[in-house]
Amino acid sequence: MGLKNDDKGALKMADERLIAALDFHDMDEVRALVNKLGDSVSSYKVGMELYYSVGRESVTWLKEKGKKVFLDLKLHDIPNTVGSGLCSLMDLGADMLNVHAEGGYTMMKTAADRLHKAAEDANVPCPKLIAVTVLTSISEDEWAELGFSEKVQIKDIVVHLARLAQKAGLDGVVASPQEAAMIREACGKDFLIVTPGVRPAGSSLDDQSRIATPASALRAGATHLVIGRPIRAAENPVKAAQDIIKEMEQVK
Ligand code: C5P
Repeated sequence: MGLKNDDKGALKMADERLIAALDFHDMDEVRALVNKLGDSVSSYKVGMELYYSVGRESVTWLKEKGKKVFLDLKLHDIPNTVGSGLCSLMDLGADMLNVHAEGGYTMMKTAADRLHKAAEDANVPCPKLIAVTVLTSISEDEWAELGFSEKVQIKDIVVHLARLAQKAGLDGVVASPQEAAMIREACGKDFLIVTPGVRPAGSSLDDQSRIATPASALRAGATHLVIGRPIRAAENPVKAAQDIIKEMEQVK
């Protein structure tokens, strides 16, 4: 693709397992980063900040550039509302959407069924649907504050919700890298495990605490890594992405 890296020859092509988080609130910043990263990154995450500021263009622009998009809006409402909401997002062409598993089995099943039906009716590939189990920001103290007994551990609920998501027909979950191995064991080899909280060795932790390196997250069973600031805030984002891809290649 004509990519050149001065000291090491041709640049590595994108690894679809790497999803760069576009935590911006305007399209100029999005265009600048995506154009700079070029062929080094093929998958992006659009979250609440970007989608609520810019709207549908944030996804359609990326799709026009041939990128894969994980639209991370974490829907959580009654089953009919979530099902209808997902159907309203269908025509954007996002490759992955998500809901909160805490919305319950019926909500997740309705979401999956409605999405599959909408894709079938539109004759387009169905986006992958994944579930957030327990937010990684929830600490033990907050867990207790929510009313859960000390005997009910967060990790057990994470695995329980992952199993429930799978039973409801979802394709996978968002989870901490530290939960990936347990989920892989519980849900088998084809279940998607998308992990934020990934930091290359030696990089800043920012506000993440339960972290893993790219290779260790993949070894634990992650299928996709969502990485934001280590790429976005790097002095040289292309080099940062390339270093991550090289590390990821150790684990195929
Ligand atoms: O910059 P950083 O690599 O920490 O970005 C991680 C991305 O993953 C952010 O977009 C953040 O919102 C998201 N995320 C997370 N932890 C979760 C779920 C999503 O950090 N549990």
